Amino acid sequence: MSTPTADLLAELAEIGRDPVRGGYSRPGLGEAERELRSWFIEQATRRGLEVELDRNGIVWAWWLPASGDRAGAVITGSHLDSVPGGGAYDGPLGVVSALRAFDLLREANEFPARPLALVVFPEEEGSRFGVPCLGSRLASGALTPERARSLADADGVTFPDAARAAGIDPDAIGPDPERFADIHAFVELHVEQGRGLEDLGQPVAVGSSILAHGRWHVAIRGRGDHAGTTRMQDRQDPVVVLADAILAVREAAEQTPEARGTVGRLRALPGGTNVIASQSDLWFDLRHRDESVVRQLLEQITERIRASGEREGCAVELQEESFSGEVRFDADLRAQLEAALPDAPVLDTGAGHDAGVLAGVIPTGMLYVRNPSGTSHAPDEGTSDDDAEVGSVALATGLEALMR
Ligand code: GLV
Ligand code: MN
Ligand code: MN
Repeated sequence: MSTPTADLLAELAEIGRDPVRGGYSRPGLGEAERELRSWFIEQATRRGLEVELDRNGIVWAWWLPASGDRAGAVITGSHLDSVPGGGAYDGPLGVVSALRAFDLLREANEFPARPLALVVFPEEEGSRFGVPCLGSRLASGALTPERARSLADADGVTFPDAARAAGIDPDAIGPDPERFADIHAFVELHVEQGRGLEDLGQPVAVGSSILAHGRWHVAIRGRGDHAGTTRMQDRQDPVVVLADAILAVREAAEQTPEARGTVGRLRALPGGTNVIASQSDLWFDLRHRDESVVRQLLEQITERIRASGEREGCAVELQEESFSGEVRFDADLRAQLEAALPDAPVLDTGAGHDAGVLAGVIPTGMLYVRNPSGTSHAPDEGTSDDDAEVGSVALATGLEALMR
């Protein structure tokens, strides 16, 4: 049965659908994300909220006390971009729940006890420019504006050009300490990316921590040639090194308890069946609670790829695209959410979030909503309409406690 939260989400159903991969492809600062952002701005404006786009591309929609003062605000929201072929809930659920929670709070009070801002972060997945949580990393100083300006997507579109197309001045991006100095708390609601709640028979959880995680790009350069005329012993084939790199990631992670290692993206250039590639690229993702274990895994994997490159006569270049240490959400904030939601279990996660990045500068916490399949970053990701509404009500309850 439809619910107000599910109805809001349904308005986004046609935006950014991917007919080839299935699900949704809403790359950061691209057309679909911009359309979704306009939808959010329209929804917020319709509710009488004061909307602004800050210099890092974060949208803020303010509900202010009678004084009009913005100090000591509580903020809530998430992101609207997706991974390639992703689900409908990762990001958008937190945004529509923020709107719905505002509606519930507004029904009860003309003015908030504290300022409340609904926020939308750009390029959270990093699926376009490689760096996840680009907006919150820039705002918090975790990513330099110079590095952001040097990024380009797979089609060669530079970050500055994409930023301009999205109404963001690339020369104005960067740390925004004054804005965040006055934030009391940030709560991000998110679809759960696992089966914790399903197994516990509960609809909503309070977040405790995020595993340390990072992303690396490996470029392997060999010698392009003809598939039929080049003898096997004469080849310098970067795809062979790439194959070994995939196994290096898999085996290192398998041999380390509680580690996760993934190669989810790769390419061979120029990419012809009868062409020995001149270059191959892969991107891998490593996660573990302990940051030093992630570093050890990285070292082990790097060594194996380099040895493989040497054997094949290929040059190997490795670049770190992003790294995030383990995050433990603010203890006081978490205790307040737990007190406001006494039935909610506490869960940790292996997924990164803007609330994790911003934990370095403001008190942050998260709420998760039950996902029956446990799947995420794929079209099967989901939650029931009823649970989506229960999540919004829980968010309103949590925000109300924090605004008191
Ligand atoms: C974002 O969802 C991530 O964990 O990579
Ligand atoms: Mn995600
Ligand atoms: Mn997300």
